[in-house]
Amino acid sequence: MNNLKNTGLRSIAAAGLILTGIGLSACGGGTPTTQPTTSNPPTGTLTGGALIYSNTCASCHGVNRTGTTLAPDISVNSPRISGKTENALVVWISTHSPVPLSSAERNLLATFLKTP
Ligand code: HEC
Repeated sequence: MNNLKNTGLRSIAAAGLILTGIGLSACGGGTPTTQPTTSNPPTGTLTGGALIYSNTCASCHGVNRTGTTLAPDISVNSPRISGKTENALVVWISTHSPVPLSSAERNLLATFLKTP
């Protein structure tokens, strides 16, 4: 009877696969991206301007809009935002965004930047 032996080998192989899986997911994938794109996976349940910001702008301006070493603070009370109208922000975004955005998306983003 080989059955017992086979089962034993199979469960060892299965355990090996599971461990490999855990090892890989623990690594988390490595290098931070410097080239943001709208194809980044959405985080949480963000929608509208917050979602576009998260996908397109947060890599430089930070998830809380308070800036990183790559880009300045653009939180709602920062001079760069408080000193601009929403329309001026739409215009700025149209040339500044690293990816092409529709006019609806630019408007959503500008509204988001003006929202605490
Ligand atoms: C590759 C990094 C990077 C990304 C991505 C990025 N920004 Fe910026 N952003 C900068 C830098 C650097 C400045 C400062 C530019 C300056 O002072 O001339 C800036 C400045 C700004 C300002 C201030 C403008 C002003 O007149 O002072 C706003 C508003 C802004 N970004 C919004 C956005 C929005 C919205 C997005 C997403 C669509 C975005 N940024 C994506 C790097 C980035």
